[in-house]
Amino acid sequence: MCGITGYSGQQNAVPVLMEGLKRLEYRGYDSAGIALQGKSSLSIAKCRGKISQLESVLPRRMKGRAGIGHTRWATHGEPNDDNAHPHVSADGRFAVVHNGIIENATPLRARLEAHGIRFASETDSEVLAHMIASIDADTLIERVRIALGEIEGTYGLAVIDAQAPGQIVAARNGSPVVLGIGDKEMLVASDVAAFVRHTQQVIYLDDGDIAEISASGYRVIDRQAVTAHKQPTSIDWSAETYDKGDYSHFTLKEIYEQPEAIARTIKGRLDNRFQTAHLGGLNLEPREILAYRRIRILGCGSAGIAGFIGARSIEQLARIPCDAEAASEFRYRNPVIEPDTLYIAVSQSGETYDTLAAVQEIKRKGGRVLGIVNVVGSSIARACDGGIYLHAGPEIAVVSTKTFISTLIAFVLLGLHLGRMKDLSIAEGRALIEALEALPDQVSAILQHESDIKTIAEKYSDIENVYFVGRNLGYGVAMEAALKLKEISYIHAEAYAASELKHGPLALISPATPTVFVLPDDDLLEKNLSTIEEIRARKGPLLIVTNAAGERLERVRKLGDDCILAPQIRDLLTPVMMLLPLQLLAYHIALLRDCDVDQPRNLAKSVTVE
Ligand code: G6P
Repeated sequence: MCGITGYSGQQNAVPVLMEGLKRLEYRGYDSAGIALQGKSSLSIAKCRGKISQLESVLPRRMKGRAGIGHTRWATHGEPNDDNAHPHVSADGRFAVVHNGIIENATPLRARLEAHGIRFASETDSEVLAHMIASIDADTLIERVRIALGEIEGTYGLAVIDAQAPGQIVAARNGSPVVLGIGDKEMLVASDVAAFVRHTQQVIYLDDGDIAEISASGYRVIDRQAVTAHKQPTSIDWSAETYDKGDYSHFTLKEIYEQPEAIARTIKGRLDNRFQTAHLGGLNLEPREILAYRRIRILGCGSAGIAGFIGARSIEQLARIPCDAEAASEFRYRNPVIEPDTLYIAVSQSGETYDTLAAVQEIKRKGGRVLGIVNVVGSSIARACDGGIYLHAGPEIAVVSTKTFISTLIAFVLLGLHLGRMKDLSIAEGRALIEALEALPDQVSAILQHESDIKTIAEKYSDIENVYFVGRNLGYGVAMEAALKLKEISYIHAEAYAASELKHGPLALISPATPTVFVLPDDDLLEKNLSTIEEIRARKGPLLIVTNAAGERLERVRKLGDDCILAPQIRDLLTPVMMLLPLQLLAYHIALLRDCDVDQPRNLAKSVTVE
């Protein structure tokens, strides 16, 4: 969603800001803009549309050593030039870029309007610019601090003042802000991706922090103006990690990064001595773990589906009742928080508002929450009592691929850890560890079959409706595969549990509606084959993804119009193997339909609003 970038240093800020905005494009946006400090005034360029459109409206001689930029994803007010950030105070002295939502914008706006201030946009963010201008204080940071004292809601923001050359003030409350420490230059952004080419030394702001940066350094204060001592940290990822390299899309790059992502998720966590998983971040004593009688997993979109599959892994390995639900719905049903239930929040970005709100609701009611999160130091990771970082590396494409798979692996590790405290035997633990160790190579091998999947994609690229069907873990795979296809190809794809098919959707099976069937070679194979027969009897075309072998594979081949073969692997890792070809299928179908694979329409990488 919205993105912030800012620069103060020796170079012309314009190209640095524009590069920052391009690196934030992946988050999803519908307008963009920059504000620059000139000699004694600010210059602003902003417009609806892509960064390339902003480039075309930039004044040719726009130059300055400090400035701020923004990509906006419309919430208050439609995406148009006026509503694009930066927003400027009526006297033109202050410019503001803002992520988040100002909940009391309406009364604040009314108050400012009563004082004769005319608003130029419909946004909640514009009140910030006018409030900062209306405060009488000696420094920009003090003006911002006082203004924020009146704000209710969430913000990550950056402000410049025409009369404070080289200075940017940034603040955080619920929306990430990170400072980048360069050589005689400082940067600020909502996401390190914006400035990673300039520096890897960063400071993550905490909620309530207000920072003043200039080319020569930074200082951070809290809401009471007391100095906050922040420790810079180094980020692991270089600029190349955020580039497409030789790949045509980030989606494809990230599909191919999955062996590496899995290897990083398991690195240092497999304990060959006790045949368990070592998960130091859980912050839970064995005694505390044993006291939990239930586990409930929460997440949105793909994270929620990974939770669904993860729940089954934990239940199977640890024999603890475990289920998953959408974090976005959770708080609306006034949930009962039980002391003997352990909650797990799943989020790639760690910034999804609905998931964060669910975590806060649980904590408010005294529950304990672990996070399974990719982005280190993100809001959800900070809000949780402990957890597991995926370490899958930055994910740029809007749809998740490698982080989904890494989340499944994190759940298997958690199941192994819990299981080995309960009834999972040493032999079972060892077998699972061996399977996990072998997994990255097996995943690389399956990715070699991309051209076969591309051929199948050609056959299915014109369809308008498709069912994805599976049982148990296979149903989880079906849900994620359907979501991938609908997100990037805009085909109506629906996932159904195989056993539910006869309770409704069978009415829709016809030669015009193909079914993708997820068919692992497990105890449920015969049951699944019966469902497949039912689909065949209604002349529904069938694409079957299976790891059946020998005589069973022969039977499957006879039933399916097309088959994708996945390798045999331990049950709990089957979803990984079954999903990989379906990620590639969605990718190739979307390409054939000429869709914007990396940035699907109307979607954002992390949804930081309700
Ligand atoms: C958005 C994205 C989805 C993603 C979901 C959860 O809706 O479009 O692809 O699965 O957010 O994101 P998270 O960062 O919490 O995993």
